[in-house]
Amino acid sequence: MGLHLLKQTDPEFEAAEQAHSDRLRDVIRGEIRAAGSIPFWRFMELALYAPGLGYYSAGKTKFGEAGDFVTAPELGTLFARTCARAVAPVLKASDDNVFLEVGAGTGAFAAAALTELEQIDALPARYQILDRSAELRERQRETLAARVPHLLDRVEWLDVPPEDSWRGVLFANEVLDALPVHRFVIRDGEPHELHVALDEAGNFGFVEREADLMLLGAIRGIEEDLDHRLPEGYVSEVAPQLPYWFDAVCGTLSAGLAVFIDYGYSRREYYRPDRNRGTLLSFYRHRAHEQFLDRPGLQDLTASVDFTALALAATRVRFPLAGFTSQANFLMAAGLLDLFQLEQLQVGEIDRYRLAQEIKRLTLPGEMGERFKVISFARGIDHVPDPFQAYDLSRTL
Ligand SMILES: C[S@@+](CC[C@H](N)C(=O)[O-])C[C@H]1O[C@@H](n2cnc3c(N)ncnc32)[C@H](O)[C@@H]1O
Repeated sequence: MGLHLLKQTDPEFEAAEQAHSDRLRDVIRGEIRAAGSIPFWRFMELALYAPGLGYYSAGKTKFGEAGDFVTAPELGTLFARTCARAVAPVLKASDDNVFLEVGAGTGAFAAAALTELEQIDALPARYQILDRSAELRERQRETLAARVPHLLDRVEWLDVPPEDSWRGVLFANEVLDALPVHRFVIRDGEPHELHVALDEAGNFGFVEREADLMLLGAIRGIEEDLDHRLPEGYVSEVAPQLPYWFDAVCGTLSAGLAVFIDYGYSRREYYRPDRNRGTLLSFYRHRAHEQFLDRPGLQDLTASVDFTALALAATRVRFPLAGFTSQANFLMAAGLLDLFQLEQLQVGEIDRYRLAQEIKRLTLPGEMGERFKVISFARGIDHVPDPFQAYDLSRTL
């Protein structure tokens, strides 16, 4: 995740957290005992989304200084307001346009984006939220009720992606990196899938299993694109279900823009020979580490995005690529600095400092500026707003 700061907790809190993780550990152990082993993607799915117990499904703080990571919308309102301005022309094109936010976290983005859209007279007919976590949906409702009570009746929570055709903007910040991934290793020239099994003491550990046809096809496809086989011992991740997910979530958007912001690489960069341990990371209290099987339910698990895979998935369902650029270039082109300057004039010394920090974190190359990319897809619209194509990197995909 984005940024990492230190924090402290008391022993009682630690004991409650441990008990929570133990309950989830028992659920996962049960699945492993029944099957002998489970693929890592299934472990990741349970660790993040097991009902009532997973990292995203249960009440853990997660976001902000008291949590495990900070995302761009949690730094302040500049990110959401700038994104809102960038998509406004698409929303304004028709009265029945919808803004669909996938994976809305605490609701911070929605609250700031709605405020900005109202100010610039670009409010969508409806603001829909699709989120896998029931706990976060509740938090989103609380955030919106506190920050934009007068706009709450425009907001709708969806249980499944829209089934009927719709127009507008689909937006997802740091959602793709939270989708469960398959982990593989090249052993004796052949891709093997990393599974999670139990040792004699009941602890989780990785074991290697023959890759099934879907995984094998995905890895061979990558190797074809790269024009070479991945080297012996190479470990990485792949999300073979990404095309199905993309189609399920974006398939009914008949006219509009789908925007994904996340950290990741083009395929060639992702599967560089020297990136031979993959991109998977765990986050616990703002520290990144590689003990992926520790503390299920208490730590985030995340993998970088293969943007080439996303572009291929979109093309297959006739959703053409509209642009691919860095977060810094996108935000600058969308007027981040203008908003910053305006805001600076209206606040005191301490807030001015906070705003300057926010800008740095959003745009500096060592922070989110270069590592995070903005990829967008468009269909049925005449014009893609310029910021989505600023310093376009599509040729790298
Ligand atoms: C890392 S958080 C990012 C939240 C927010 N967009 C932000 O930037 O602060 C990932 C969010 O995506 C949600 N999520 C994960 N998988 C999802 C899926 N398949 N469909 C919808 N939401 C999902 C999580 O519940 C969570 O709200």
